[in-house]
Amino acid sequence: MMREFIRHRRLRRSPALRRMVRETAVGVDDLIYPLFVTEGHNVRREVPSMPGVFQLSLDRLNTEVEEVLMLGIPAVILFGIPEHKDDVGSGAYDEAGIVQRALRQLKKAYPELVLIADNCLCEYTSHGHCGLVRDGEILNDETLELLVRTAVSQAEAGADIIAPSNMMDGFVGAIRDGLDRSGFKQTPIMAYSVKYASAFYGPFREAAHSAPAFGDRRTYQMDPANVREALREAASDVAEGADFLMVKPSLAYLDVLRALREAYPHPLVAYNVSGEYAMIKAAARNGWIDERAVVMETLTGMKRAGADLIITYHAKDAARWLQAE
Ligand code: PBG
Repeated sequence: MMREFIRHRRLRRSPALRRMVRETAVGVDDLIYPLFVTEGHNVRREVPSMPGVFQLSLDRLNTEVEEVLMLGIPAVILFGIPEHKDDVGSGAYDEAGIVQRALRQLKKAYPELVLIADNCLCEYTSHGHCGLVRDGEILNDETLELLVRTAVSQAEAGADIIAPSNMMDGFVGAIRDGLDRSGFKQTPIMAYSVKYASAFYGPFREAAHSAPAFGDRRTYQMDPANVREALREAASDVAEGADFLMVKPSLAYLDVLRALREAYPHPLVAYNVSGEYAMIKAAARNGWIDERAVVMETLTGMKRAGADLIITYHAKDAARWLQAE
């Protein structure tokens, strides 16, 4: 007599059956596309470590955004590459700063597109740190004031969501108060709540010219070994008024996404970061992996882990593949 067993394969026999029992779906509404805006004219400079990703000047931005809209992607997140940097990151909160101008231009041309403004100083500081520096130390409370100015200037320029990525303590509360005081009570905060000090940001720092000139970010970004601490970070952001929570990077941190999913009902964002993109692109270019299959499997994994939304450089490709399905 054969031992009894369960026939799991019954539900895998045809594509239609598999569709019916599928638990997780990636949809175009889940995707957020990052854009790097830069000074100058007629600039569309590909980032060497991120094939398919470009630094764009304002006069080349709308064409890119029209493609995003045509693909049905609901939102973009903006990063700026200023012409001049200084030790207080003035470009971040200049009302004529590169991101502020991009926001005004895009809000006017495409009012339906959701504009998310990354809120940090590192692209604008000469030392490349996310806050003010004194005697080699990254100052917390003194930095908050500048982040608030940045957030208010971004909201004034047309940002629909402020996404602070700086990992200073108290940043969500400070920005919430600042926005409320300036008449932006309705502007949500997408907090980079759980952001690790990760080597996967390498290509982004090339794209955004934001590598720290000395030291590293380990006194403010989280230790990759910690997940209980991630819950504490999320708890303080929730208490301070975060509307969205985020985990960054994604692939090496799927358990962290799951932990936050189970602890909080808030919309949860996974940031599929530059190094994760670069690895897939490099392997695909060598013919070592099937890019489309690997990207969709990766995004599905983030959703399955608990993400509602994914910031990803693959967004345009994924949207195209989803349309073709
Ligand atoms: C700014 C910021 C970084 C990323 C998003 N916002 C870089 C960093 O913290 O060094 C990384 C994004 C990516 O790697 O795709 N603080």
